Amino acid sequence: MEDASLHRLLKARYGAAPDVPEDGFERLAGMAGRGSCRRFRPDPVPAGWIDCLAAVALASPTKSDLQQRDIVVLHSPDQRARLAQFVGGQDWVADAPMLAVFCGNNRRQRLLHDWHGSAFANDHIDAVINATADAAIAMGAFITAAEAMGMGCCPISAVRNEAAAVSDLLDLPDHVFPFAGLAFGFPADPPPVSMRLPLGVTCHVDKYAEADLRDDVARYDTARAAAQPYDQQRDVARFGEATPYTWSEDKVRQYSQPERAGFGAFLRDKGFRLD
Ligand SMILES: Cc1cc2nc3c(=O)[nH]c(=O)nc-3n(C[C@H](O)[C@H](O)[C@H](O)COP(=O)(O)O)c2cc1C
Repeated sequence: MEDASLHRLLKARYGAAPDVPEDGFERLAGMAGRGSCRRFRPDPVPAGWIDCLAAVALASPTKSDLQQRDIVVLHSPDQRARLAQFVGGQDWVADAPMLAVFCGNNRRQRLLHDWHGSAFANDHIDAVINATADAAIAMGAFITAAEAMGMGCCPISAVRNEAAAVSDLLDLPDHVFPFAGLAFGFPADPPPVSMRLPLGVTCHVDKYAEADLRDDVARYDTARAAAQPYDQQRDVARFGEATPYTWSEDKVRQYSQPERAGFGAFLRDKGFRLD
């Protein structure tokens, strides 16, 4: 039987594993061995499970207890089909058994100020960051909970590609914005485990450091290209075929294309000041 120990899973993901304390930590193996799921069995997700997952997700920490995140669960197949149309190039989304959209919500806080007759005095970029963090934390908790129940999930930031259209579809009022969609259901097959940068690159001791960053990334590129090669290279017409085709090459190609340049304007239309 394959060794599903926490140590093996972390070694596969990071190249080297930290020491794993013996008692109790094995229960983290599910989190260490997770992956995003984009192929689902057609079985529906029971509605009671979704309510339970939402309740658990919204129990996660929230900045200053402000509770500035909402989840819009798309039970209606029509709504799901419409949302899928706005995430261009990701055909798998239309086949997901369930979709939800995690939103940042700074509206309720502003309404509280109206009702209490005291002006909201924090009308700047922090209002967006706090609500975004709240939405992201809730989505992470939802994913962890769903995966612990044997489900598969994949976030969809592409809901921000056409943020205004998604906002109209969901009737989002001012100061409420889509952070990410989430596809979830029962996985058709176990999702692949994707390697991460070595812990020494992304987890620092006492101070931020990047002394060996370029070499560390080169080693990660080599190890990852061998263990987890990409199925497809991006934009071969512009960049040509690369051998090996590495993680850093893929990320550079991805972000050599402008993406969501209009999102700031969308947030301003929603009433946010981004100073
Ligand atoms: C905020 C956020 C948005 C994402 N948006 C998309 C998306 O639009 N489409 C997609 O296929 N995956 C999306 N993902 C999933 C990432 O591509 C995935 O987490 C990453 O490739 C690492 O793979 P893993 O989750 O299997 O470890 C998103 C993940 C996050 C956290």
